[in-house]
Amino acid sequence: MARNLRSLHLQPTIITIIVIFSFVLLGKFYSGSVNKVNSYSEEANHENNVHHASTRINENHRVDLPEVDTQEVPHNGRENATFITLARNEELEALLQSIDQVEKRFNKNHHYDWVFFNDNDFTEEFIQRVSERVSGEAKFGKIPDQYWGYPDFIDQKKAADTRERMKDVIYGSSESYRFMCRYESGFFWKHPLMDNYRYYWRVEPDIKFTCDIKDDPFRVLRETGKKYGFTLALYEIPFVVGGLWDATREFMEKYPEYIHPHNAIRFARLDGDDQSYNNCHFWSNFEVADLDFFRSEAYEAYFNHLDRSGGFFYDRWGDAPVHSLAVSLLMDRNDLHWFKDVGYYHPPFQNCPVDPVVRQELNCECPNIPDVDPGSWYNFAFESNSCIMDYYIALGRE
Ligand SMILES: *[C@@H]1O[C@H](CO)[C@@H](O)[C@H](O)[C@H]1NC(C)=O
Repeated sequence: MARNLRSLHLQPTIITIIVIFSFVLLGKFYSGSVNKVNSYSEEANHENNVHHASTRINENHRVDLPEVDTQEVPHNGRENATFITLARNEELEALLQSIDQVEKRFNKNHHYDWVFFNDNDFTEEFIQRVSERVSGEAKFGKIPDQYWGYPDFIDQKKAADTRERMKDVIYGSSESYRFMCRYESGFFWKHPLMDNYRYYWRVEPDIKFTCDIKDDPFRVLRETGKKYGFTLALYEIPFVVGGLWDATREFMEKYPEYIHPHNAIRFARLDGDDQSYNNCHFWSNFEVADLDFFRSEAYEAYFNHLDRSGGFFYDRWGDAPVHSLAVSLLMDRNDLHWFKDVGYYHPPFQNCPVDPVVRQELNCECPNIPDVDPGSWYNFAFESNSCIMDYYIALGRE
């Protein structure tokens, strides 16, 4: 199957069809769910079975023991970890819905902390109602102004022209969406509230967890030494990541020392002579990851390179493709992890365990969304516009 897909990538007409197909589907999603997604979109409109890899196989097909960090001893059975959410006061109800999902399927047994960020002050009501629902400690932070605005090297006229040029694309005319993407790409772990944590799990308003989560995803990462976990991988709208691939290639030429020799860049790159971007990315609205990666010199260098090129403002780069290219390029490919048995639904995409025995064991209630919403999928992973196959190809498991 993977092999077939690779040969597909060599056929330009088929690539075009796939790209157009995913563009149409994404367009459908974005147009259909604008009032469901968070208020950043509203502003855009106004502004005009967890895999326990206890061993690893290295390039020489030898089995290595995982690198367990013995200093990271779990605290009362809990890992050194927190949930994080970027939200606005208006999103309270949608957020409480997400919190209830996380608590019901997972956190009621663990009581992990939860850090909330906002570019404004949270209201008393927000703080009170959210705190009541989170079974761990809820913490509330305001994003410092220096991370929510234009850096001095950005030409604001050019940024305004970009917003005008992109006004027909989802969030294309939004300033705050761009500030958010830049914050999630470059700064969220720099907030003092994050200093005491090693791992984070990102949650957005209006999502669902559709199965019990029995294996603690934080523990899975620590025990296996992995660093980045995802549930959904798909094609980004090519129009919004113009320039991102070129900036990334420039980075590769300029800083070869940061490129991991055993990387997964094939996840994001087509085979063939031009080696262009295939627009694959991990959907970052669900992410469980090791902050040490984002705190690393390599990531800092990559982010600064992208930031200086201006694409967060002269384009509309999302944090999802930025994180995805970074982990594909700078990490060992074995440090990526697909949480394939985490049932997760962010309209219209859903990940649901494939094995019926697992679905039963985890009390899954994956909605049969294609009935309700044609153009949605019961399990997106193996659809033609999912990038899971590219992920497997990148791992070398063709
Ligand atoms: C948790 O991780 C942070 C960041 O790596 C570290 O500074 C802190 O000491 C860790 N805490 C514990 C209890 O291990």
